[in-house]
Amino acid sequence: MTKITIAIDGFSSTGKSTIAKRLARALGYVYVDSGAMYRAVTLYAMQNSFIGKDGFDKAGLIASLDHIKLNFQFNQELGFAEVHLNGVNVEKDIRTLKVSSFVSQIATVSEVREKLVEQQQLLGKDKGVVMDGRDIGTVVFPEAELKIFMIASAEKRAQRRYDELIGRGDDVRFEDVLTNVQTRDHIDSTREDSPLIMAHDAIEIDNSEMTLNEQFELVLQLAEDKIKLSS
Ligand code: DC
Repeated sequence: MTKITIAIDGFSSTGKSTIAKRLARALGYVYVDSGAMYRAVTLYAMQNSFIGKDGFDKAGLIASLDHIKLNFQFNQELGFAEVHLNGVNVEKDIRTLKVSSFVSQIATVSEVREKLVEQQQLLGKDKGVVMDGRDIGTVVFPEAELKIFMIASAEKRAQRRYDELIGRGDDVRFEDVLTNVQTRDHIDSTREDSPLIMAHDAIEIDNSEMTLNEQFELVLQLAEDKIKLSS
């Protein structure tokens, strides 16, 4: 069976990764969470004091990019690959609200994007990949056979992210999560390099009122149709 490339882009907390993971599992494809890579670089910047309350030392981070080694290691129990930063599993550490509040700024840096896009293209070079992010269908894989663009209201998205953070024991306020979602939407879609825009050939899915199963069934059907067409 011919393997295709599937790009799932959209605003933060639209549930892209949940659907992407499930789709990859159903098709026997590799799943790549490109946002995790930007988050890991952000964590590195925080750990090395390139970002913090005193501002952002962009030149310092750019000069250190060669010291950042990212890779994914499959976790059998969880059923997906977790991101490692310089050999350390940082899958949990990159999901905090603190990392979320800095990550969009880090993702505006062209040198960071260049490094990560190159790695993402390598990860998907053999096709059979489901990758989610912001610029997968526009920049990373403009030739992807299937491009999905997920949207949902900011309130719905903030509620989902809030439930997730509370569920793992984080002490957060809903207002802060909503502000973070709105701020990231703004930075992600107005940045100069690779802004979040829908590719002209992407299929938009508004999942505000859809269950996970409904979204999954729809996306799986779209993928199977494309695979058939490409075979
Ligand atoms: O998908 P996420 O919320 O984990 O992504 C975190 C941030 O990384 C997001 O605010 C924007 C950035 N990002 C990006 O610029 N390009 C990507 N392909 C993926 C994420």
